[in-house]
Amino acid sequence: MPNVEVMEKKLPHLVTSLPGPNAKKVVELDAEFVSASYTRDYPLVAKSGIGATVDDVDGNTFLDFAAGIAVVATGHCHPEVVAAIQKQAAELIHMSGTDFYYSSLAELAKKLSSIAPGKERKKVYFGNSGAEAIEAAIKLAKYHTKRDKLIAFHGAFHGRTIGALSLTASRAVQRKGFGTLLSGVFHTPYPDTYRGTYGIRPEHAAEDCLGYLENELFRRRVDPEEVAGIFIEPIQGEGGYILAPAEFLQGLQRICRKYGILLIADEVQSGMGRTGKWWAVDHSGVEPDIITSAKGIASGMPLGVMIARASVMDWTPGAHASTFGGNPVCVAASLATIRLLESKYMANAVRMGEVIMKLTADWTTRHKIVGEVRGRGLMIGIELVRDQKTKEKANDLRNKIVQLAFHKGLLVLGSGDTTLRLCPPLVIDEEQAKFAIQTLDACITEVERAM
Ligand SMILES: Cc1ncc(COP(=O)(O)O)c(C=O)c1O
Repeated sequence: MPNVEVMEKKLPHLVTSLPGPNAKKVVELDAEFVSASYTRDYPLVAKSGIGATVDDVDGNTFLDFAAGIAVVATGHCHPEVVAAIQKQAAELIHMSGTDFYYSSLAELAKKLSSIAPGKERKKVYFGNSGAEAIEAAIKLAKYHTKRDKLIAFHGAFHGRTIGALSLTASRAVQRKGFGTLLSGVFHTPYPDTYRGTYGIRPEHAAEDCLGYLENELFRRRVDPEEVAGIFIEPIQGEGGYILAPAEFLQGLQRICRKYGILLIADEVQSGMGRTGKWWAVDHSGVEPDIITSAKGIASGMPLGVMIARASVMDWTPGAHASTFGGNPVCVAASLATIRLLESKYMANAVRMGEVIMKLTADWTTRHKIVGEVRGRGLMIGIELVRDQKTKEKANDLRNKIVQLAFHKGLLVLGSGDTTLRLCPPLVIDEEQAKFAIQTLDACITEVERAM
């Protein structure tokens, strides 16, 4: 079986101006018939992918540091994942785990139970996306606690279905026009140690945010004994790759235990080895009652799971289900993905993350528009500012860098207002990491010169 590491294509190779003629045609067709709600930053029209590279419809090769929005953990079309999908598709495509049994569903649930933090056995609910995993967590939290209030964080992104959207507080445009959302949802400041928000002191972000929750929110707006669950991204993804300090997560766990509130870690973006451990919470020793996962869990096949302590998942038959959730083909892709992450790619994420952090260590001194480079493993954010002292946000500069990178054959995405996010497949090697960082270095320099 071929190995991704020895595949030929590793670096970008552009043969047309961008977008090329074939890409232009697709973009035109798309504009006519595809939902206008999608946000495309640049006209990349993908045709095929292998490892960390993507070819477009004009024969251009790109280095992919976006990974289909942090999804293709084992790279594009990893041969072992493809083989698992093909074998399963030839054997059994669908059965519906909600009404029937198949062994791989229980096998994957057992594996997820073993890698989720905490000694207690876990049970797993299977859906098709991150938002569905969140919906399931909302319902289970209410069901189990018999309470109906929920807490989430400013800047959070938990998905776009009505329940998940009610927790999301990332961009007004995501809520605009959709009327009243779920009632009983409260938002509280996230510990942003770079910028601080709403009076939170960056250097005391953990303490201030915990203080706000207990002394402000719980005293004035919602009684903690009515709160079913607190949803937190241990690293905010769409919010700008912001890392919650370990002491904040530990404090949050203490507060949850004190008031009988479920701690729900949304690891849809930060989980499945991206940070170098299975879960971002593993870096803090926190053991959430519920974890949601999707994105990287099946290397691109649609799967979203809600993993809960067995004693918490106490709902009864009929309480919740989904026809396609845990489809056998997605499950096979997930089992192959987990094997690969466990055997090599999670460790590679640690190594490559270190390489990137080392290569960017002097960026805040060499680049006046880089405010901070932060991250864990291969979940890295580069904060763009107009002025390092005032930390004035530089959304336009960040967007220019994303465009420039595309025209140099490097795919990256923004997140939050001013963060450049690096979330490559966990298979990248040192040559690719160096190339990406040199390319971004050149793009940032170009933007600075034009200021
Ligand atoms: C942390 C987090 N939760 C939930 C979601 C929603 O996932 P999906 O787009 O699969 O519904 C996302 C998507 O970006 C996410 O980053």
